[in-house]
Amino acid sequence: MKTKILSLPDLKKAGQKKEIESVPVCKPTDYLLSWGRDKTFAIRTYGCQANVRDSEIIRNYLLSLGMKEKEDFSGADFVLFNTCAIRENAENHLYGELGLCKKAYDNKRDMIIAVCGCVVQEEEATRYILEHFKHVSLIFGTSRINSFYYLLQDCLKEKMRIVDVSSTSFSLLKEPVGSVASRFSKHKAFVNIMYGCDKFCTYCIVPYTRGRERSRDKEDIIKEVEELIKLGYKEVTLLGQNVDAYGKDKGEKYAFASLLEEVAKTGIKRIRFTTPYPSDFNPEVFQVMAKYNNIMPSIHLPIQSGSDEILKKMNRRYTSKEYLDIVKLLREKLPDVALTTDIIVGFPNETEEDFLKTLDIVNEVKYDSAYTFIYSKRPGTPASKLYDNVSESVKHERFDRLKKIIDFYAEENAKKYVGKTTEVLFDTVSKRDKTMISGYNPQGKLVHVKGDESILGQIRKVEIQTSHTYSLIGEIKDE
Ligand code: 5AD
Ligand code: SF4
Repeated sequence: MKTKILSLPDLKKAGQKKEIESVPVCKPTDYLLSWGRDKTFAIRTYGCQANVRDSEIIRNYLLSLGMKEKEDFSGADFVLFNTCAIRENAENHLYGELGLCKKAYDNKRDMIIAVCGCVVQEEEATRYILEHFKHVSLIFGTSRINSFYYLLQDCLKEKMRIVDVSSTSFSLLKEPVGSVASRFSKHKAFVNIMYGCDKFCTYCIVPYTRGRERSRDKEDIIKEVEELIKLGYKEVTLLGQNVDAYGKDKGEKYAFASLLEEVAKTGIKRIRFTTPYPSDFNPEVFQVMAKYNNIMPSIHLPIQSGSDEILKKMNRRYTSKEYLDIVKLLREKLPDVALTTDIIVGFPNETEEDFLKTLDIVNEVKYDSAYTFIYSKRPGTPASKLYDNVSESVKHERFDRLKKIIDFYAEENAKKYVGKTTEVLFDTVSKRDKTMISGYNPQGKLVHVKGDESILGQIRKVEIQTSHTYSLIGEIKDE
């Protein structure tokens, strides 16, 4: 099959600031509507919530063609891999899956296999996929979601492999609204408030794969939340790589605090947001959080390292002391807040002393939980050029030591809920035991109770009886 290249990524260009263009939602064509009837699709999503939201949008584009979704990719007419590039192992996992998909393709040669998301924004990765996975026939970038129908049509009509992964034009998407924008969950919805990242932490590939920070219009966000309320949604999570930088690209100050307040005023039952950047976090946000009880007291505040030397090398724009001051203020304003974080161990040349400073911070903050990672070298990032004198075994050993302490505090924090009553939004039936249902409390703790499907979508009071490291078990308390 021939390859038609509309655009290829270029990591060097990806770091540059670009004009922002607004791209309208794409519309199905008659050709696709007649092709889509009786066809099936399967989607595999890797990585963060931004990818989940992108997959939801593409899924709706496919459903709007009359296509049916299936779990398994064998036998599907269209298969999409929405990829994550944040660490090398996510990328390797993708290549394994693409290899497995070859068998399904051999049994169904008209299957369209598409790859999108962050991995294809890397030049080398796109070239590697084109060369090694000839059964992949559509590759498109993170700013090309609203061109999806046109790309798919091109691929089907011209019987060519289509590649459209531009790094130079970072479009601001207009998102579909109303029921066509629907989510994977019936009760909880992710709502993008901004795209991209301007922080350029030296280890991170995101600014190159998702482009510069672009904030959505406040009116569009509020309209979307109001639509979600009408559709019966109970919870929204406002999404952005650095949500507290919302509006900065438009020259607005404290815009996140005022956006949060307006979202709170819509009356949606629960609001969460992720992820704030420590030095952009400001007391205005804490005040809004304290004022509205539909804003959940749970904050994910990535520290990355406790060593000021390492933070500097990471280009994080705060010191450990400044971070701790924010935590102190936050806890003063919101005494019942749950705090979680991200930590990277084994950044190039991290010393034992640096690592111990990270443990000091963990011991001081006593996080409710944390995502811990071993540093992974990402092509094109400044840190990938650093000489590294830390061996893999030392990195693993530090990772294990850190994980033990994180688990210890998670367990300690979970114990505090035993004997207390907490509110839970139920949204899942256990796959193994249909009589168990689960959901999250305001602090983001996973809670399991005996119950049935009829309770899904409800916020109920639960008395906690037992705690585990990362979950609580209780009983619904009827009023
Ligand atoms: N290696 C390891 N972890 C990383 N993260 C981002 N880039 C890397 C990398 N190159 C982690 C950070 C970030 C989280 C989403 O992923 O901790 O907060
Ligand atoms: Fe990556 Fe840093 Fe941006 Fe987060 S803030 S996405 S870690 S560059």
